[in-house]
Amino acid sequence: MLQDRRILLIIGGGIAAYKALELARLLRRRGASVRAILTKAGEQFVTPLAVAGLTGDKVYGDLFSLTDEAEMGHIQLSRAADLVVVAPATADLIAKMANGLANDLASTALLATDKRILIAPAMNVRMWNHAATRRNMATLVGDGVAVVGPREGSMACGEWGPGRLAEPEDILAAIDALLEPGEGPLKGRHVLVTSGPTHEPIDPVRYIANRSSGKQGHAIARAAAAAGARVTLVSGPVEIADPAGVHVVRVQTAREMMAAVETALPADVGVFAAAVADWRVDAPAGQKIKKGSGGAPALLFAENPDILASVARSPLRPRLLVGFAAETENVVAHAQAKLQRKGCDWIVANDVSPGSGVMGGDHNSVHLVTANAVRDWQRMPKDEVANALVNEIAAALSAEPRP
Ligand code: CTP
Repeated sequence: MLQDRRILLIIGGGIAAYKALELARLLRRRGASVRAILTKAGEQFVTPLAVAGLTGDKVYGDLFSLTDEAEMGHIQLSRAADLVVVAPATADLIAKMANGLANDLASTALLATDKRILIAPAMNVRMWNHAATRRNMATLVGDGVAVVGPREGSMACGEWGPGRLAEPEDILAAIDALLEPGEGPLKGRHVLVTSGPTHEPIDPVRYIANRSSGKQGHAIARAAAAAGARVTLVSGPVEIADPAGVHVVRVQTAREMMAAVETALPADVGVFAAAVADWRVDAPAGQKIKKGSGGAPALLFAENPDILASVARSPLRPRLLVGFAAETENVVAHAQAKLQRKGCDWIVANDVSPGSGVMGGDHNSVHLVTANAVRDWQRMPKDEVANALVNEIAAALSAEPRP
C-alpha cells in the first residue's frame, strides 16, 4: 500500500509521456497522492488538463508563474513529497540533473529536493547509448538516484533496442521498493543474488567474458526487493541499470565475485544466476601483449573458484540455495547432476543453445529442478520468471519456521 504517500511526478517530453498518466492512475488507486510537474516539452505530448484529471490536483508547469509561486514555491513543491519520480526521464532532463542545471520548474525542483529521486528513462536507443547519456547516467547512479528501465523493444522511431519507458507496473514496483521496504512475503529476509558475466583479464586491455546480460539475475533481485527482502546483488559487468532499492556490489572477476559473496553472507536465500567464468588466465600480462615474432600467444588457464559449490559447503550456507544451469543440451539431466554436484537446493535450468535467444534476450524458458521433482515452466519474460521464482522462494521459507 502507498496510502497517504505523496509523489511528485515530473513528466518529461516524450512519446511515452502518456504512460505517466497510467502511472498516476495506478498510484492514486494505491492510496498515494500525486502532484505533477509537466515540462514544456511534456505539454507537447499530454495536456495539462489530462494530467490534472488523473492526479486530481493542479498541474505545475511554469517556474516564473506568480500564482504558482504564491500558492506553493518550487522549493516547497519538491520537499512536500515523499518521493520524486521522473517519468519519462528524457535525455535532456537526465543531462540537466547530472549537471545540476535549474532553468525550468522541473529541473529546479529536482535540484532543490531533499527526497529520493526515481527516474524512468525513455528515449531513442542511439540517444540512450550515446557516450554523453552513459556518462550522465553513471553520474546520477553515483549520486544515489534510483533508476527503473528502460526496457528493450521496438521504438516509436522505428528502431529497436533499450530506450522504451518501463511499464507503469514496473515503475510502481520500484516506487514500492523505495517507499515501503520490508513489506511483503520476504519481509525481514536477506536475499543474496549474483548476476551477469565475469571478466577475466588477459592483459590490461583484453579480457575473456561470456554473453550473459545480467537481465535474469537483476530481475530476480528486483522481484525479491519488491517482495520485501533486503537484497544484496553482486553483479559482474553489465549494461543494464541497477534495480531500485537493492544494494549493488560491482565486481569484474570470479575471484572478486567470490570475495563479495563471502562478505555479503549470512543470507537467508542465495540465488546464483551469474554466468561465472570457469577459468581465468593464470598469469595475466602486466603490459599489453604485443604482436611479435613469437606468433600468437598461448594462454594458460587456471580454474576459478566455484562460488555456488563453495557457499553450499560453507558454515554460512543460506537455508535456501538456488543455482542456475546454463545448458545447450540434455538440459534437465545436466541440471540434476549439477544439483547433486554443487550441493544446492534448487536449480533453475535454462536452454542457452544459440537458437533459444535466452542469452541477452528478454524471455526465458526454464525448468525448476529440486531434489525430487522437475517442473517445466512455460516460456515467459525474464521479469515473470523472476516473480515466479520469488513466489516459490517465499512459499518455501514460509513453510519452515524462522530461526
Ligand atoms: N557458478 C558459480 N561459480 C562458478 C561457476 C558457476 O557460482 N565458478 C554457479 C552459477 O552461478 C550457476 C551454477 O553455478 O548458478 C551453474 O553454472 P554453470 O555455468 O551452468 O555450470 P558450471 O559450473 O560451469 O558447470 P558445467 O561446466 O558443467 O556446465
